[in-house]
This record gives sequence, structure tokens and C-alpha cells, in this order.
Amino acid sequence: TLPPRVRIVEVGPRDGLQNEPVIVPTEVKLGLIARLVAAGLTSIEVGSFVSARWVPQIADTAALMARLPPNPAGRYAVLVPNLKGFEAARAAGAGEVAVFASASEAFSRANINCSIAESLERFAPVMAAARVAGIPVRGYVSCVLGCPYEGAVAPEAVARVAHRLAEIGCHEISLGDTIGSGTPETARACVAAVAATIPRERIALHFHDTQGLALANLRACLDLGVSVVDAAVAGLGGCPYATGAPGNVATEAVVAELGRLGIATGVDSGRLAEAGRFITAALGRPAG
Ligand code: HMG
Ligand code: MG
Repeated sequence: TLPPRVRIVEVGPRDGLQNEPVIVPTEVKLGLIARLVAAGLTSIEVGSFVSARWVPQIADTAALMARLPPNPAGRYAVLVPNLKGFEAARAAGAGEVAVFASASEAFSRANINCSIAESLERFAPVMAAARVAGIPVRGYVSCVLGCPYEGAVAPEAVARVAHRLAEIGCHEISLGDTIGSGTPETARACVAAVAATIPRERIALHFHDTQGLALANLRACLDLGVSVVDAAVAGLGGCPYATGAPGNVATEAVVAELGRLGIATGVDSGRLAEAGRFITAALGRPAG
């Protein structure tokens, strides 16, 4: 059966803008985030504390966080790859942090310059410090439906990493179809394998829309009991270390589709469209 309600995690300001060829000014990011909050989005990923040499687009995350609009009903999250990133996130007042691992060795190496096992070791001190600080940690698994370097990825490989992230204390595990290579069949098989090792209430779906299948893939997984979906306003998004990773599934499309299915999101589609127009105009791109 379908969930009565889905929580949307808006990743546009982070996953979207990290992949833009231009560096979007802090002021514009703030304008976007204020509009997303006004649209009723509560969980918003606003940036990353990673190396600015690797991802210059998010170099302003600390400055951005110092000026975020109030988000009383929700919280702002940032990505952190290691303890150094976590310390910066805590100092900036992050309400949530996210660590990110991969289901494929080659992508782990390309994205964070270490093996899957090493990445999990780096997360251990992050988890410990976050527990002390009372900051919830989300865990990503990338390449769950395919890797740009290794091709097909086995659902068991995904389930193994997802289970480890849950075990070390991530409250939610987001399954990333980083390059949008999944189909409804592979997406469902992957989520079923993960749901066999962690409670389905803790699973989130993070699908990129490379082949235009993200919405169909989401639909194929929703009746497995998953009720958290990541999306990016205007379909912004991608990953600088996964060539061919275009936008995340558009928040506008997800809200519309869930509405058709009778699933509540709490998002005002008119105000969301306004946020989409704002950022596409700022990027000089036609509205999606
Ligand atoms: P490294 O070079 O292996 O690490 O990078 P290092 O420890 O040797 O440090 C190198 C330099 O980075 C040093 O500076 C460190 O201080 C600095 P230097 O001495 O050369 O001046 N450094 C940092 N600076 C700021 N913040 C930090 C930090 N840590 C070290 N936290 C590292 C390792 C992970 C840092 C690097 O590989 C990196 O930053 N990678 C970026 C990864 C990234 O942001 N990828 C995109 C997000 S993931 C994604 O999009 C997928 C997702 O959406 C899900 C999906 O779609 O599948 C989440
Ligand atoms: Mg992504």
C-alpha cells in the first residue's frame, strides 16, 4: 500500500548547485532557500563541508549558514565527509549532517578518494561527535542502481553498505541512483534488498533523472513502505565526480505525482514553482 504522506528532502541548494558550472552567489542561494521554506519544505540540504578545491561551488557554506532564514518546522542539513567537515558543520549550527558512502569501490575512490571500508572508518568519529552534540546524521549510499565506472551494482552490495550506515547510527539511509541508470525493476529490487536489512521507515530514495525514469522508479518503490523522497527544485543537480549525472528528480514533478496518487507532502506547488522560476532565472536557464 502507498504511504499516506511523504516527506520530501529538498537537495537543490546542495546537490543541484554543486554541479552548476557557475558559482552561484550566496545571496542567490539565500533567495532560493527562503522561497523553498515559504513553499513548505522543511528538510533542506543547503551545502557541504568538503574540500573547496574539489567542489568550489559550495565553498560559501559557512557564510551561507550564518544567514539562513528561520526554518522553525524543519532543519537545515549539510554533507560532511569526515570529522573536519563535521566540526565545521557543528560550528556553523547545522541541524543535521549527512555522511556519504558508495556501493561501488571505483565511485568511492573518485568521489571521496578512499575505499568504501576507509570511508566507513572515517565516519566512526563523526558519528561519535554527532552523538555527543545531539546532531542527527543521515547516511547516503551512492551508485545504488549503477556506477559510472563499474556498471551494474548488485542489490546485496547496496544492502551491505546501507546496513553498516544504519548500524553506526545513521537515522536515515538515502539510496542514491547517482547517474539515473535505474529502471522500475532494478529500483524495486534494490529497495527490497535494503528493506530486508533495515527498517523501511529509515529508507529514503534519491534518484537522478538521467533517462527520465526517476518518477517511474519512485512510483515502483513507494508501495514497499518508503516515505522519504529526495528531490531538487527545477530538477537542478548532479555530481561533479559522476559524469553524466544530470539533475535530481524535480521537486515540482514529485509533488505533482504524489498529489495525483493522493499522497500528502505539505508543499504548496504554486510557491514551489516560484522558487523554481527564481533559480532558473538566476542561472539564465529556461524554467523546466
Ligand atoms: P583528500 O584529498 O583525500 O583528503 O580529500 P585529505 O585529507 O588528504 O585532504 C586534502 C585537503 O582537503 C587538505 O587541504 C584538507 O585540509 C582538506 P590542504 O592541506 O591540501 O590545503 N580537507 C577538507 N577541507 C574542507 N572540508 C573538509 C576537508 N577534509 C579535508 N571536510 C575529501 C578527501 C573527502 C575531503 C575530498 O575528496 C572531497 O572534498 N571530496 C568532495 C566530495 C563531494 O563533495 N562530492 C559531491 C557530493 S556526493 C554526491 O553528490 C552524491 C549524493 O548526492 C548521493 C547520490 O546522488 O548518489 C550525496
Ligand atoms: Mg545526488
